[in-house]
Amino acid sequence: MNFQPSLCRNESEVESKLIVQYLLPQLGYPPNTWHQEVAFGSIRLDFLAFATQVLPFVLDANSPLSVVFEAKSPRENLDSHVRKLQRYLTQLQVRYGLLTNGKEIRIYHRKGKRTELIFQCLGDEVSDRIDEIRQLVGRDSLKHYIPQKAKFLSSSDRERSQTSRLSLPEDESITIKLSNSRQDTLDSSEAKQINQVSRKYFVKIIAVYHNKGGVGKTTTVVNLAAALRKQGKRVLVVDLDSQANTTFAAGLVKFDDEQFDDIKDSNIYHVIDSRSKYSIPEVARTSQFCDPEFDIIPAHISLMEYERKLIEIEPAKKRLYDKLKQIDDRYDIVIIDTPPSLNLYARIALITADYLIIPSDLKPFANEGLKNVKNFIEDIDEFREMLGKSSLNILGVLPSKVSTNKKFRDYTLPNREKVIRERYGFELMTSRIFEREDLAKSVDNMMTVGDLDIPDPKSIFDYKPDSQAAEEFEILANEVTSKVGL
Ligand SMILES: Nc1ncnc2c1ncn2[C@@H]1O[C@H](COP(=O)(O)OP(=O)(O)O)[C@@H](O)[C@H]1O
Ligand SMILES: [Mg+2]
Repeated sequence: MNFQPSLCRNESEVESKLIVQYLLPQLGYPPNTWHQEVAFGSIRLDFLAFATQVLPFVLDANSPLSVVFEAKSPRENLDSHVRKLQRYLTQLQVRYGLLTNGKEIRIYHRKGKRTELIFQCLGDEVSDRIDEIRQLVGRDSLKHYIPQKAKFLSSSDRERSQTSRLSLPEDESITIKLSNSRQDTLDSSEAKQINQVSRKYFVKIIAVYHNKGGVGKTTTVVNLAAALRKQGKRVLVVDLDSQANTTFAAGLVKFDDEQFDDIKDSNIYHVIDSRSKYSIPEVARTSQFCDPEFDIIPAHISLMEYERKLIEIEPAKKRLYDKLKQIDDRYDIVIIDTPPSLNLYARIALITADYLIIPSDLKPFANEGLKNVKNFIEDIDEFREMLGKSSLNILGVLPSKVSTNKKFRDYTLPNREKVIRERYGFELMTSRIFEREDLAKSVDNMMTVGDLDIPDPKSIFDYKPDSQAAEEFEILANEVTSKVGL
C-alpha cells in the first residue's frame, strides 16, 4: 500500500489519510491501541499510541505511552512545531514523537530531558521507508523497550508516580479525554476506567472588546478563529453584536430578502432569553468562512429591540456562560465578538469570558475610549465576584489596523503604545495586526451563482494564505494559545 502526500490538503486530511489510514495500521497499531485528541492538563495531543495497553495511563519513566503523533497542515513549516513537541515529550515522559505535515515526516526521540531528531523523510518517500519507521516506532519494536515492571505497578504506585513525576501545574489534574468517535470503539472495561479519570473544564473563552467601533474587533474575531481552527483547535465564535458583522463575515447571510432570513428565529438572543431551551449545539451553525470550518452562534439585528426586555431578567446575564459550561468538551476555544458599546450584550460577553483582547487602532479617540473600557471591566469584575468567578484576565491591547508607513511604525507607534501602558494602565499584546488591503478584501469576497453575486467572505488564510496579514494572525493565534495555556 502506498501513500500519496498530494491527498492531504489540510491538517484534518493529514490526520485521516496519513496517520489513521496509513501510518497507524502500517506500524502495527490496531484501533484499540491508539487514541485521538488526548488531553493531559493543558497539553493536547493529536494521537497517542501504546505499545502495550495499560490503563489507567501511567506517566512515568517506564511509561508505556509510546508514540505521540502530531499532524500539521501541509502549509505549515514543521520547524515551528518542534519545540512544542519536545515539550510534550518531556512533560509527559513519552519517548517518541512523530511530527508530520504530509509533505515531510520526522521522528524525535527523547532521552531524559534531551530530544533528538532520529528520522526524517519526505511524504513521497514514506512508503519506501516504512520499514525503517516501523523499526523505530512500530508497535512490535517498542514493546521490547518497555521494562517489565511497568506492567506490574500497583494502583497506588501508579498514583504516586503520576503525582511525583509529572511536572504539570497544580491545578491541571491529569485528565484524559477521548474524542467521541473513538470513545464508541473502546471496549467497555477501557471506557469504564477512562470514565474514572476526573474530567476538567477545558474550554477557554475569549472576548474581543473595545467600546469604539471600527477598530478591527470583528476582523480579529473571525481571522483569529480561522487561525486557531487551522491549528486544529475546535472553535466556536459567538456574535453578540446586533450589527451582526461577524455573522455576515462568517458567510451566514446568504439571503437578500427578509423572507428567507433563517437567523431571525434562532440566534444568540434565544440562547440568552431561554433558560432551558436553545442550547449551544441547537443554535450553532457551521461557517464556511475557513477550511476547516468553525461553528458560530449568530447575531441578528433584532437583538437591539430585545435588549430592554432582557435587561429586566437578571439571570439572563449568565445564561450564555451556563450554556457554554454544559458543553465544555465540545470546543477548545470560544471567541466572542462584542458591540462597540457599554450595553447589555457587551456586559454579557465580559461576564462570560475568561480572557479579554482589546483591539485598538491606537488613535486618540480609541485611547480615550480605553478609560471607559477600564471602568466597565471594574464594574463587571464586581459582578463576576458575586458569581464566584475570578476577575477577567486581560490578555492586553492588540494594536490593530496599524499603519504600515515606516515613519509611523518607527516613531509614532512606540509612543502610542507607551501611552497605553502609562496613561491607561493596560498591557500590550506582543502581536500586531497592520492595515492590509488583503484583509479588507477577504471579507468583501463575492461568489457568482448563475447571474447573482452572493457575498462569500473568506478568512485571510483561505483568501491569501501567504500574505503578511495571514502571518500576523498566525502569530496572534500562537500568542493567544500560549497565554491561555492551550
Ligand atoms: N488590519 C486591517 N487592515 C485593513 N482593513 C481592516 C483591518 N481591520 C479591519 N479592517 C476594516 O476596517 C473596518 C472595520 O473593521 P471591523 O473589524 O469591522 O471593526 P469593529 O468590529 O471594531 O467595528 C472593516 O471594513 C474592516 O474590513
Ligand atoms: Mg464589529
